[in-house]
Amino acid sequence: MPELYRFDKNRELYARAQEMIAGGISSQIRRAELPVPLWFERAKNGLMWDVDGNEYVDYVMGMGPNIFGHAPDFIVDAVARDMRDGFVFAGQMELELEVTEMVRGAVPLKGPVRYASSGTEIDQVALRLARGYTGRSKYLKFEGHYHGWTDTVAFSVHPPLEQAGAFESPVAVPESGGIAPGSDHDIVIAPWNDLDTLTTVFEKHGNELACVLTEPILCNTNCIVPRPGYMEGMRELCDKYGVLLIFDEVITGFRVALGGAQEMLGVEPDLATYAKALAGGFPLSMMIGKPEIMAMLGDGRVQHGGSFNSNVMSMSAARAGLKHILENPDRFYRDLESRGKRLIEGLKRVGQEAESDLQVQGLGSTFWTNFTTKEEIFDYRDHAKNCDEEKYHRFAQAMLERGIRLSTNGRWHVASSHTDAEIERTIEAARSALAAI
Ligand SMILES: Cc1ncc(COP(=O)(O)O)c(C=O)c1O
Repeated sequence: MPELYRFDKNRELYARAQEMIAGGISSQIRRAELPVPLWFERAKNGLMWDVDGNEYVDYVMGMGPNIFGHAPDFIVDAVARDMRDGFVFAGQMELELEVTEMVRGAVPLKGPVRYASSGTEIDQVALRLARGYTGRSKYLKFEGHYHGWTDTVAFSVHPPLEQAGAFESPVAVPESGGIAPGSDHDIVIAPWNDLDTLTTVFEKHGNELACVLTEPILCNTNCIVPRPGYMEGMRELCDKYGVLLIFDEVITGFRVALGGAQEMLGVEPDLATYAKALAGGFPLSMMIGKPEIMAMLGDGRVQHGGSFNSNVMSMSAARAGLKHILENPDRFYRDLESRGKRLIEGLKRVGQEAESDLQVQGLGSTFWTNFTTKEEIFDYRDHAKNCDEEKYHRFAQAMLERGIRLSTNGRWHVASSHTDAEIERTIEAARSALAAI
């Protein structure tokens, strides 16, 4: 039995925070970290250190942005150098063009771009643009998909099944109190990964939809690569009914491949949004879109603003990160994928040895661990019915006590700086954690 970590100072700070910070945390998902939401002192590459002096191999990676690991020297140096000459200009700089040239070379969809700071924001811009362009107000959102926390999208991300309605025609279940009444009127919710059902939904609503907003590879409920033909079918339906197809590549962009999910799946949307891995840990989001659609942003018929859009630090980090990848993109993504695959194989192996129902699903660069007897999960309800979330939380806590930090929802983010030794350490910790739970 390894000596388990203690969290005394973490608990002390969390208790102190209760009066000062609502709930003691600054983003809802952090509340679920067990045994206590952690307080960190520093992080470098694959590792983090908390206020109790505990060292962790980290797979939260800021929920995805740190694709090179924490604080890589080449980003720290670039940002420190560039920020000496100013932070936020509310004006243009050549750096923006350099980043944009790299981005446009990488992403299959070609057209003008726009920048913002978070995934939530850029998804709002995409929705507004789709409505402005088509003159239609409804949009289609899939059960289990996450597009940020605003009133327009905070529906049916993880709805309780007893409230979710029929599989073919789900109810829009709000994720929060305080959402503006009527926000659900313009949302059509559908199950994902079932083309027959989607066809029926289009027959009913296709002519009134501005757009379909989808994670092209579902990363917010398990890690689900769409069934063969599903995305092609979605593309055809959108074309048939004059509906814009928006890929939310906030997680998949610059992570699953240089050209994101579009490159992997070979399907092109009309608009695509990016954030997380785009700037190696700095807040930057981006939308790219077909020129005739983006023209409405270009001439201001559709409005989009933001004081921090395209600030020096985020753009500098993006340039340094993209340059790093573009030195040898094939090698970068091959390495990232094979690192993750080694981890996945190791986790599956210790799961089998322990006769556990640990299930691992996804890609090398990002995947989920679940506790289920099913070999593969295909959609949100499949996940909600068959995966034991409470057991995952016990596993994540047991891993934390053994020096491995996992996300509270089950998603792992592999970084290019995770070392072989860290991966081995993770697999050994999983062996011990599975025995303990
Ligand atoms: C697919 C997807 N879209 C949008 C968002 C929102 O991004 P942000 O947290 O940067 O606002 C997230 C965040 O996890 C996401 O996973």
